Amino acid sequence: ARPIKIAPSILAADFADFGREIEAVEAQGADWIHVDVMDGHFVPNLTFGPAMCKAIRPHIKTVMDVHLMIAPVDPYIDAFAEAGADIITAHVEAGPHIHRTLQAIRASGAKAGVALNPATPAEAVEHLLDLADLVCVMTVNPGFGGQSFIDMTGKIRKLRSMIGDRDISIEIDGGVDPKTAPLVAAAGADVLVAGSAVFRGGSSAQPAAYGTNITAI
Ligand code: DX5
Ligand code: ZN
Repeated sequence: ARPIKIAPSILAADFADFGREIEAVEAQGADWIHVDVMDGHFVPNLTFGPAMCKAIRPHIKTVMDVHLMIAPVDPYIDAFAEAGADIITAHVEAGPHIHRTLQAIRASGAKAGVALNPATPAEAVEHLLDLADLVCVMTVNPGFGGQSFIDMTGKIRKLRSMIGDRDISIEIDGGVDPKTAPLVAAAGADVLVAGSAVFRGGSSAQPAAYGTNITAI
């Protein structure tokens, strides 16, 4: 089995102090830092763009995992790559040409991720697997942190078998906590995004006992 990685989402962190929040969760063992980019169009919320990614980049010693919940995607890929994104994930639902988008992400020098909303079947990425380094399975409808987990374990299992021996991560995003993490890990996920389970009360000053539970999986 692939080792489990934890990717805290700074969407749930203190927006006035991202540098300190990132340093705190990395000190606690975070493997990646997940950055949720929202455009108020593809999803009903607004967050931040490439300038913010560039500003936090020096604080990230691990991996900057940028989740684009925007449409269109293609005009912004290079800006996020130049801002230092290691992984750029775009949604399969964000436009008619996700294949081209994944090619453009790889051409930018970043690793390419493709995300699936809860209503989108695993088969939507069947013809994309040779272009993807990561498949992100949304276990909430994207747009907000702190929502309840939607069970997608059947989809995760199907994806893990479709992926076969390719080197592709399955990332789970939404409602991951010490209760749901073991379910998705058992189904074949290896990267777990967690916002509100890590940043309690808008700050990592009082971190959840999250890492301990993950290590126990
Ligand atoms: C949802 C975002 C998630 C969110 C997860 O649209 O893509 O990354 O931050 O937050 P929690 O872990 O609180 O569900
Ligand atoms: Zn996300």
